[in-house]
Amino acid sequence: MYQSLLVVPSLVGLAAAQICGLQFDGRIPATLGVAGFDVPNQFFSESNVFGAGLSFSQLIQLPAISGSLFDINTVPIEVTISDDSVFNGQTGFRRAELLPASNSGTDPSTTGIKTLHFSLAKDDTRPLNLSHEYQLVFLESNDFSTNQFVLKTGTILGGDATVNPDTLQLFGNVNQNPPQLLFSVPFLSGVFHNFAVTLDFDALTTQVFFSAGTDPLEAVTQVIPNDVGGQGQFHFGLLKKPTDGVGDITRNGFQEDGIDEGIIYGGIFQEDSSTGCISLDP
Ligand SMILES: *[C@@H]1O[C@H](CO)[C@@H](O)[C@H](O)[C@H]1NC(C)=O
Repeated sequence: MYQSLLVVPSLVGLAAAQICGLQFDGRIPATLGVAGFDVPNQFFSESNVFGAGLSFSQLIQLPAISGSLFDINTVPIEVTISDDSVFNGQTGFRRAELLPASNSGTDPSTTGIKTLHFSLAKDDTRPLNLSHEYQLVFLESNDFSTNQFVLKTGTILGGDATVNPDTLQLFGNVNQNPPQLLFSVPFLSGVFHNFAVTLDFDALTTQVFFSAGTDPLEAVTQVIPNDVGGQGQFHFGLLKKPTDGVGDITRNGFQEDGIDEGIIYGGIFQEDSSTGCISLDP
């Protein structure tokens, strides 16, 4: 069912248990509660990214479902968007994204060799509108000139019109024309999709690992040349693009009214893979 390009773990010392050093940890204990996202905390920035006048406690949900692969004593969190999710005057977009608290844009999460882990699932009560393009996880460079990788779903602007929009598509640096599709997989209901993305900020490569549900991760690509330079910040949430946009789509294009859409995230953390260490299961 899943499209694996090639299963070749190319780094030595793949870890069966989670023993790698952590760069950041965005796994949320149930005790944090949604109000905990509004004040400085060790997990995510309390001040970005959400619509003007909102706060994270108004848009984060704590769905009553079991944790993802790497949530041991931690809980999944849902990021939602509404008509009020207009960030920084970007009326063409609807946005709500979590940024790791320690991820300033120039910190060590974008140096050396790091593996970013995240899991995501649908909320069937808050479906996305697949006529639109959504960015669900991405690294935005520190000068805001590119995304070095981005996980998208829906109808991707300028994308391959033959692809089912209900697909998770992981692209490399979007300044490449066209961007390189690293991996894609159907976006199913009722199951977590677990990703690990090894980013070599020296060799400028990316390798993707994937599993569904509680299965251990497997390499689904080789080490692929991809320009991950330029540091920046990791985003987890929804960036919904407009339809019918022309010119600057941050401000132009169509967004329907009355939306209530969300994606469930779990198991967000980053580990140090400079010695080849990658956690394939907890
Ligand atoms: C999906 O989005 C399009 C474009 O914004 C809109 O015309 C349509 O009504 C939406 N469909 C649903 C089911 O909300």
